Amino acid sequence: MQVIEIGVDDLSELASFYDHTDGPSFEALSQLLQKPHTRAFRVNIHGEVVGVLWLLLSDDAVEIIDVRVADAYRRQGIASHLIDTVTPNLLTQERTDIFLDVRETNSAAIALYERLGFSLESRRRGYYRGAQGREDALVMRKSLNPSATSPS
Ligand SMILES: CC(C)(COP(=O)(O)OP(=O)(O)OC[C@H]1O[C@@H](n2cnc3c(N)ncnc32)[C@H](O)[C@@H]1OP(=O)(O)O)[C@@H](O)C(=O)NCCC(=O)NCCS
Repeated sequence: MQVIEIGVDDLSELASFYDHTDGPSFEALSQLLQKPHTRAFRVNIHGEVVGVLWLLLSDDAVEIIDVRVADAYRRQGIASHLIDTVTPNLLTQERTDIFLDVRETNSAAIALYERLGFSLESRRRGYYRGAQGREDALVMRKSLNPSATSPS
């Protein structure tokens, strides 16, 4: 399963992938990619984008902005493979943490992150707008031992 970095020039390949999703809009993500600290990666199967991972780098952490797998390809290890393949290469002696916000009702994503070793750090009350009103965001974090990381 090959992971390929997405550049601004191949963004158009992703537009249809984001057609029917409820996450961040493709337009918002595309604008983020114009900034130097955003990185994006995809997995293709049979020439089709089936999984994407968007990240924001800061001095001390990697933030997962979005990870998403096409419906027909879920539970095949694609999101795990993306996160596990990409994030270790972005960590440094100073940048040792990976964190994210997830809706408290998103049990699939929470299960994924727990499986990958993330744990609950805090809760942002009413952070997301949901069908039933506001819902909390869970902030989940994974800290890696700097001696086990490779330079970026
Ligand atoms: C969350 C999401 C990215 C998971 O992608 P995926 O490729 O299916 O995940 P993986 O196959 O790597 O799953 C790894 C493990 O996570 C857990 N997991 C993943 N989806 C799960 C689900 N629907 N229910 C329960 N556990 C789940 C399981 O432990 C799974 O291992 P297993 O299949 O051996 O039991 C995918 O469901 C998705 O695109 N959801 C919509 C977008 C989204 O909510 N993104 C997260 C934004 S914070």
